[in-house]
Amino acid sequence: MSAPLNIVILAAGKGTRMRSELPKVLHPLAGRPLLAHVLAAADALRPQRICVVYGHGGERLPEAMGRQDVVWVRQEPQLGTGHAVQQAAPHLDPGAAVLVLYGDVPLIRQETLQEMVLIAREGALALLTVRLANPAGYGRIVRNARGQVTRIVEHKDASAEELAIDEVNTGILALPEAKLAGWLARLSSANAQGEYYLTDVIGMAAAEGERILPCHPAAEWEVLGVNSRAQLAALERTHQRNLAGALLNQGVTLLDPARLDIRGELACGQDVLIDVNCVFEGRVILGDGVRVGANCVLKDVEVAAGAEILPFCHIEGAQVGAASRIGPYSRIRPGTVLAAEAHIGNFVELKASQVGFNAKINHLSYVGDATVGQKVNIGAGTITCNYDGAHKHRTVIGDNAFIGSNTALVAPLTVGENATVGAGSVLTRDAPAGELTLSRAKQLTVPGWQRPVKKVKSET
Ligand code: UD1
Ligand code: CA
Repeated sequence: MSAPLNIVILAAGKGTRMRSELPKVLHPLAGRPLLAHVLAAADALRPQRICVVYGHGGERLPEAMGRQDVVWVRQEPQLGTGHAVQQAAPHLDPGAAVLVLYGDVPLIRQETLQEMVLIAREGALALLTVRLANPAGYGRIVRNARGQVTRIVEHKDASAEELAIDEVNTGILALPEAKLAGWLARLSSANAQGEYYLTDVIGMAAAEGERILPCHPAAEWEVLGVNSRAQLAALERTHQRNLAGALLNQGVTLLDPARLDIRGELACGQDVLIDVNCVFEGRVILGDGVRVGANCVLKDVEVAAGAEILPFCHIEGAQVGAASRIGPYSRIRPGTVLAAEAHIGNFVELKASQVGFNAKINHLSYVGDATVGQKVNIGAGTITCNYDGAHKHRTVIGDNAFIGSNTALVAPLTVGENATVGAGSVLTRDAPAGELTLSRAKQLTVPGWQRPVKKVKSET
């Protein structure tokens, strides 16, 4: 039996440079809070326990994250990274391997962490370090003549010689709980910042002859932290480029991988094509051969094989049937289910409606709370009047019905199968199957009618 894994996530810091009212780790990257990315990386390691050390922003953080399974440990005041881990220490399982992560380093990969956890389970200390072109601000990794790590010196405490070291501490480390507890008890704040430095445990470990094994991320972006809006924006681009790269590898055509935003999960079948400036939110599934035109926003949508979404569509909480054609400029709202080969055209809004096989709603319509049968044709400007000011009512349109342009269907209402509704009608009662129903003033011609003409003033 290997030691249990406990993960401590440090997230109590202020994040002053974000200049925000929102706690830093709640700022979103790819649509999710920074901390949610770190928690996802932590979850992937299947730990026995996750402790999040929080402080700045107060209870807002645990409330926003809604994770009852996490041990939330409040650090007040915030006296440094060592002090933060001291607060979590009483909650750790004796004998656990402890992994320390930062709540503001969101792109750390599970594979990198797995290697570190293995080392800690074997009783050694794993330290994640990286060489940076500009190491300013970071703690420097001090090694002895044999190349062994002997300690970490913080930038503000470093000598000129130490400042020249380009190998820095990422802050992420893994070590056995039993050893950590002893070292934490001995931390002091006698340093340039008057803080309890977690990094001082490295020096203690080295002095006691413990094995310290430096690990390295596969890419620099894994260990980049967010301290400012500019860093957040840069990391967002890095992350989006990575996501786009993964889609390209899978065989998705992206007309410009730099102009795509995935804020959630996007699953694509074979030969999917995505044009520029599309945003995918929540969980989106695109079936084989689906094409998404430029400037579409899709949130929690399932699009079946062969469907085509033309440019400028906004689709949320909907299912789009196979070989359907949507847009340009369609808005499809939650609860809408389109069967195969539906055609939804420009400036059409659908809400909580079922649309049958090969039904066509091609121009300028609002269809809400409706059931539309197979092969129904809804003319331009048709409106389901689903709301009476107090309640919503349903409209049911039978198979093969034809609704003339500019019709208002005042719900609750049923239009029977094969019914035809004359253009410009306002229907307040059911239209029977197979018949023509219309409600409009009869057309009238007044023979010999003359337009009034302006009187010309006679000059005197
Ligand atoms: C820390 C490391 C430094 C490393 C750098 C990497 C220490 C003493 N220094 O420096 O070696 O190169 O990270 O970014 O550990 N936090 C708390 N409570 C606190 C203080 C911090 O929870 O009292 C959290 C912060 O929210 C943040 C993380 O710990 O997530 C790091 O804090 P930060 O102030 O950014 O550390 P640095 O001084 O930059
Ligand atoms: Ca930092």
